[in-house]
Amino acid sequence: MEIQMSNTQDGGRFWDRIARKYAADKIADEAGYERTLARCLDYLKPTDNALEFACGTGTTALRLAPSAGSLTASDISGEMIAIAREKQAAAGPVNDAGRLAFVQSALETLTCPAESFDVVMGFSAVHLVPDLREGLVQVHRLLKPGGLFISKTPCLGDMNPLILAALPVMRFFGKAPNVLIFTSGDLQAAIAAAGFNIVEVAHHASRGKDTRPFIVARRL
Ligand SMILES: C[S@@+](CC[C@H](N)C(=O)[O-])C[C@H]1O[C@@H](n2cnc3c(N)ncnc32)[C@H](O)[C@@H]1O
Repeated sequence: MEIQMSNTQDGGRFWDRIARKYAADKIADEAGYERTLARCLDYLKPTDNALEFACGTGTTALRLAPSAGSLTASDISGEMIAIAREKQAAAGPVNDAGRLAFVQSALETLTCPAESFDVVMGFSAVHLVPDLREGLVQVHRLLKPGGLFISKTPCLGDMNPLILAALPVMRFFGKAPNVLIFTSGDLQAAIAAAGFNIVEVAHHASRGKDTRPFIVARRL
């Protein structure tokens, strides 16, 4: 069961507003993050043309790009992309513009030709698209047949109901973005229904109940 919370698109303004703070925040679970990166690297091939949508300030893209043929990293927020480009400039030639391109765009408005990518990734991303089915149709369109979709995103339907109760209040005060609420099971079913085979579901968190499954699915 997927619940949509009046998900009107604000064009990334929420994320523009918090981008500098987001960039300064420490990763909450460094070891879990490293497990996710390592598993992505197991899947990425040096010839792959890859996409990471909702890339934020580019932390993950900068880590993964050296192991791909090329990586396009996109985000709806111009502020997030500006910070990502600053980090890219500081990173030096290993992540030059030939290998890693940061692009400002929502997932749903990316106009890359169909079947452009071998791998499409989204981290803390899928719950933020305006419509789950349309977002997955876009991922499917962008992937080559046999290509991989890699996602790790909060499944709010599996979280404490008190958090869900607080969300509308936080959104009212501009402290939370628009989100989709689904369980891990809902998300896996939606991915399968969009034309994918699920090949891996894992949990990388270091502690507590992990409501952010690492999901890898192959485009049929
Ligand atoms: C929680 S941050 C995650 C950033 C990064 N993936 C990470 O793991 O640190 C969510 C990001 O999604 C972006 N975003 C939200 N809605 C989006 C959409 N429809 N298309 C593309 N990016 C979106 C936001 O601008 C923000 O940078």
